[in-house]
Amino acid sequence: GLRALAPQDMAGQTVMVTLGPTREKWDGVRFWSNPSSGTMGASFAVAAWLRGAKVHAICGQGTPWLPSVITRHDVTSAADMYEAADSLWNAIDIGVFTAAVADYTPVPFGDSKFKKGGDDLTVSFTRTVDILKTLGTAKQDGQKVIGFAAETDNLHDNMKKKLAAKNADIIVGNNVAKSGSGFGTATNEVCIVDKNGRQEDWPLAPKPEVAWRVFDWLLQL
Ligand code: CTP
Ligand code: CA
Repeated sequence: GLRALAPQDMAGQTVMVTLGPTREKWDGVRFWSNPSSGTMGASFAVAAWLRGAKVHAICGQGTPWLPSVITRHDVTSAADMYEAADSLWNAIDIGVFTAAVADYTPVPFGDSKFKKGGDDLTVSFTRTVDILKTLGTAKQDGQKVIGFAAETDNLHDNMKKKLAAKNADIIVGNNVAKSGSGFGTATNEVCIVDKNGRQEDWPLAPKPEVAWRVFDWLLQL
């Protein structure tokens, strides 16, 4: 099929990227979600394809454009995203977990539309599965895992904790409170840390460039 003039330094690798937001259904017409656009994950998916990899993208709702050479799996909830990722995982060489997965899902009201009544509303939530942690912990020899850390405080400390807790090879952290960084932006200002303890702060850059440089880093680990 279609091939690009790019270094084929990921040829023979199968890459899985999770991207975009999850949606956690509450009643028949409402859900819990976040403003993730899927831009960072789409950038990884395209970068991996340009470098010769076979790519699976597990896309939350609202995820944008992806070349048709990338195998797309559209999902809605955190549970759906986990199921899709888990069923692919044994065939994957590199997992890139960029999705903004809901940490909690509302206890469902049901399929009817909730009708307003009193002045207050209390909704209970239960924890979702941590996709990166579950698959990172189940990592086999040769499998590589890149995770993200979205933080507003103590970026460097929290990234290192996530690197260990999720058995990742690389964590890319960003301060989501900084302008030009994080949810729904075209650029990102990140810090990278790897399992060998190497760490670097990178300047603000377009997300496609960040993705490319993270893969450069992974291939040199
Ligand atoms: N992640 C995941 N599944 C979840 C939650 C998070 O796969 N249920 C992944 C994200 O895709 C990201 C990484 O874990 O690569 C870190 O997500 P983040 O929200 O920054 O951290 P959490 O571990 O969820 O902790 P907290 O939100 O409390 O900081
Ligand atoms: Ca989280």
